[in-house]
Amino acid sequence: MAEINSDIYQAKAMLDADHLIGLPTETVYGLAGNGLKAEVVSKIFAVKNRPHFDPLILHSHSIGAISEYVIEIPKTAKILADAFWPGPLTILLERNQKIPDLTCSGLDRVAFRIPKHPKALSLLKILDYPLAAPSANPFGYISPTSSVHVQQQLGHKIPFILEGEISEVGIESTIVGFENGETIIYRLGGLEVNAIERLVGKVKVLPHSSSKPDAPGMLKSHYAPRKNIILGDIEKLIEQNPESKIGVLSFSKFYNNVETSLVLSKTKDMHEAAKNLFSHLRKLDESNVDLIITEKVPSEGLGKAINDRLQRAAVRE
Ligand code: TXA
Ligand code: MG
Repeated sequence: MAEINSDIYQAKAMLDADHLIGLPTETVYGLAGNGLKAEVVSKIFAVKNRPHFDPLILHSHSIGAISEYVIEIPKTAKILADAFWPGPLTILLERNQKIPDLTCSGLDRVAFRIPKHPKALSLLKILDYPLAAPSANPFGYISPTSSVHVQQQLGHKIPFILEGEISEVGIESTIVGFENGETIIYRLGGLEVNAIERLVGKVKVLPHSSSKPDAPGMLKSHYAPRKNIILGDIEKLIEQNPESKIGVLSFSKFYNNVETSLVLSKTKDMHEAAKNLFSHLRKLDESNVDLIITEKVPSEGLGKAINDRLQRAAVRE
């Protein structure tokens, strides 16, 4: 058996004692705890200040382990799981009674994902329960892509953060489910829609508009910095705000006429852009600017998910 670092055993000891930990994954860092115990899951909601109607994702290490908690794994789900797990894909499945209502906010389906991060996967393999893990940020704020982000915001509330370097993908998993024979995308994310469609044909992407969502976490104002943020034509917005100390977050172009200019990817690489998105937004939020100006990226590949996050970061309700 491959050697397992002692920090992974430390994480296991914490989790077995019903504590929460910061968990590195390839998408974003999670706030993880035993997903089968309502009292542990309840702590997750409390630490994040998250409303109980917004269900959690369970993380496991194998399809075999997941099948213990669901009524069935439909054929399309199996195709996607075989192709993309471990990876940035979450699948909604009909749950059985082993999963507490609180984990799924009382819904009939449970969200499952097998993460690819080697430490997360090693940890899950030595646990005998799945881990409930929402992104490790206070509800509504920008998701964390490094242990430092988790430490800054939740460090005082949790006893342990498993160090896992910077999240490779940088945005949350893509969430799929099935209704009346149709494959539905409930949240755009780190797995491209095209990759899914190549295997299972046309899918329906649900718009993220409602404020009491059926697929929660789809609240309009989400992933939001505390500073004012406007999405649009960067040059025009700079001109229209001559009094402001501006921070720009652009796709690829550097702006030298503002206080701070951060670029998602100089070479227009969507994977690099996704990886930088949340940490750049955080940097601008923590800097001395008083207005963040950003723009949409081309709507291809991961660009769709990046635009979804930017749009919701910029909405104020
Ligand atoms: O990449 C990710 O998915 C990360 C890492 C840590 O794995 N986790 C994550 O969790 O983004 P969170 O809690 O921030 O988002 C979970 C979202 C919910 O807001 C909801 O939209 C959806 O997953 N979800 C979970 N269970 C669901 C269910 N039964 N029905 C519909 N949507 C569900
Ligand atoms: Mg989240």
